[in-house]
Amino acid sequence: MATKLNQLDLEKYNLDKYTFEELISEKELNDRVKKLGQQISKDYKGKIPVIIGVLNGSFLFMADLVRNLNIDFEVDFLKISSYGNDTKSSGTVGLIKDISADIKDRDIIVVEDIVDTGLSVEFLYNRLNKEKPSSIRFVTCLKKPSKINIDGLVNYIGFNISDSFVIGYGLDYAQKFRGLSSIYNLNPKKEN
Ligand code: IMP
Repeated sequence: MATKLNQLDLEKYNLDKYTFEELISEKELNDRVKKLGQQISKDYKGKIPVIIGVLNGSFLFMADLVRNLNIDFEVDFLKISSYGNDTKSSGTVGLIKDISADIKDRDIIVVEDIVDTGLSVEFLYNRLNKEKPSSIRFVTCLKKPSKINIDGLVNYIGFNISDSFVIGYGLDYAQKFRGLSSIYNLNPKKEN
């Protein structure tokens, strides 16, 4: 698939009940990620955080973010499940792949693609906190208005967005569309 979306792509994947619109352009993403990188570099000056990417969705955002840091850091990844092949959260989170780094007494920055209900953040915080790190902060590219209270955990937010389903820049629908270079909204077509 090309890096730009068109209506035929939606039809190909049985999403013809939806229309799409570009929500955040590639340039807006680049500019914002640069700013987040500068802020994180400033906040973690003199420290060597372990940056943990939450697979799969965060891989592009994380790759861009770390290239905008001017501090030393280490990386690790974990994988959780929540959405399956749907546009709504399943309501339960499971760990599919755990980290391998020893994070005791380390500063942790967890990189998320999007925070929706907040369940994943809550789950990840509880999971990682068991290892007794010095600190845990979350950075997310996108944030919807969360349904559960995770105030204070998500310290860095790329963009606050409204409650609709988005794809691109790492975010998928049924594992498709991750390579799109901007972020698109999928809007249900209005019935006549
Ligand atoms: P939460 O646990 O409900 O906050 O959901 C977080 C996870 O759900 C994200 O890491 C994504 O994988 C997925 N997700 C939530 N909203 C969207 C969306 O609009 N598009 C694609 N994936 C999403």
